[in-house]
Amino acid sequence: MNAPLKSPAAAPWHLQGNWAPVLDEIDVGPLVVRGHIPPQLHGDYVRAGMNPRSGQSQHWFAGNGMLHSVQLNDGQARYRNRFVRTPYYEGDMNMMSGMFDPAASPANTNIIRHAGRWLALEEAHWPWEVDRDLNTLGAHDFGGRLGGSMTAHPRVCPVTGELLFFGYQLAKPPFLTYYRADSAGNLVEAQAIELPNPVMMHDWNVTRNHVVFMDLPVVFDLKAAMRGEPPLAFRPEAGARLGVMKRNDAGGQVRWFEIDPCYVFHPVNAYEQGDTLVLHVCRQDQAMAGGFEEIYGGDRTLGRLWRWTIDLAAGTVREDQIDDAAADFPRIHDDLVGLPARWAYMASLNAQAPSLTLGQRLYKYDLATGARLTRDFGPNSHLGEPIFIPRDGASDEDDGWILALSHDESQDQSALVILNAQDFTGEPEAEILMPRRIPYGAHGNWMPR
Ligand SMILES: [Fe+2]
Repeated sequence: MNAPLKSPAAAPWHLQGNWAPVLDEIDVGPLVVRGHIPPQLHGDYVRAGMNPRSGQSQHWFAGNGMLHSVQLNDGQARYRNRFVRTPYYEGDMNMMSGMFDPAASPANTNIIRHAGRWLALEEAHWPWEVDRDLNTLGAHDFGGRLGGSMTAHPRVCPVTGELLFFGYQLAKPPFLTYYRADSAGNLVEAQAIELPNPVMMHDWNVTRNHVVFMDLPVVFDLKAAMRGEPPLAFRPEAGARLGVMKRNDAGGQVRWFEIDPCYVFHPVNAYEQGDTLVLHVCRQDQAMAGGFEEIYGGDRTLGRLWRWTIDLAAGTVREDQIDDAAADFPRIHDDLVGLPARWAYMASLNAQAPSLTLGQRLYKYDLATGARLTRDFGPNSHLGEPIFIPRDGASDEDDGWILALSHDESQDQSALVILNAQDFTGEPEAEILMPRRIPYGAHGNWMPR
């Protein structure tokens, strides 16, 4: 099933085609729109991505962070992009030289808003604050209380407004630390968690009263790194476990549940149901199977929708595959994070491609039944993470819009697509044509005004 990998002589996949960086910073508008931008959408769609300033980088993860924003106002749109100017950018650092300075973040993975702050995130360093115009303001270490790194996938609890997150580190214990910030952004809890191995922990799960860590076997090996071998590798013999902890003041008490070795970059959502925790995740059989440099190792390294049901009374985990379509970058209605959400939205992945390739489809899943709706944009198009924006005053969970960046490789044209989430397979309400190609990237969010 493994697709052939590119020859070593070719440029690495993360510098080819629309993965290649763009180097200028521009501010353009109003943009050309096909259809009509819903006038209710007032705010900024902002997305982070890897964009090496030199045009070269050793690894996909190592590119300098660039933020792209599409500002919507009165049915019109403007585009702006800026590098995040951290010491990693200013010093043109690489993964090794930036490793030991917590401020030297590539800031290339996600952009969130909490307590009025816009934070550009990457998982091995501190967050970096930017303003609405994407100017870099400075590192944000929560007033000196954030000791080490912060994940790029914190969760804002829709009930309490808290920012829940973790940080992992590979070089020495504690390999994992849990953090909780109150709704005003004050860091009120920091708790070291014991892990047997230093592992790459990209994301996690949050419910109303618990968090669930994923100790999955992409293991850091210092000795291998010193021998010049890949520092991270998939080692199923290390085992895989889910760690359930109370959100507030658990004192590091984690209850661990064994599961089959696998990897999950992105969970969909999690919620409590009686004595069980129900987790939907994009699960892949392996990670880094093409080697650390390649990441992609064919079909077995692509995510698919699974459900893990943790029975806290029985002490068991049931693992069910829900669908066989390769998909990742899952999102739900953000007001239902940690609560029973019915609808999930994902980007398809191309399981036939020779390297990591976003697919031509977006999916809408009914998590209650496992049913999938498909919106196909045609073979030249590649769609990124679909985010959901609720309509003001909506009563239905899916009453709102899906925003996703697309890139048509035959025209070299990027666009921001706006779909009516309740007419998911219908024509987009708007396609906002970008004034330049926007390289494929990572995660983004809607910042309403
Ligand atoms: Fe991610």
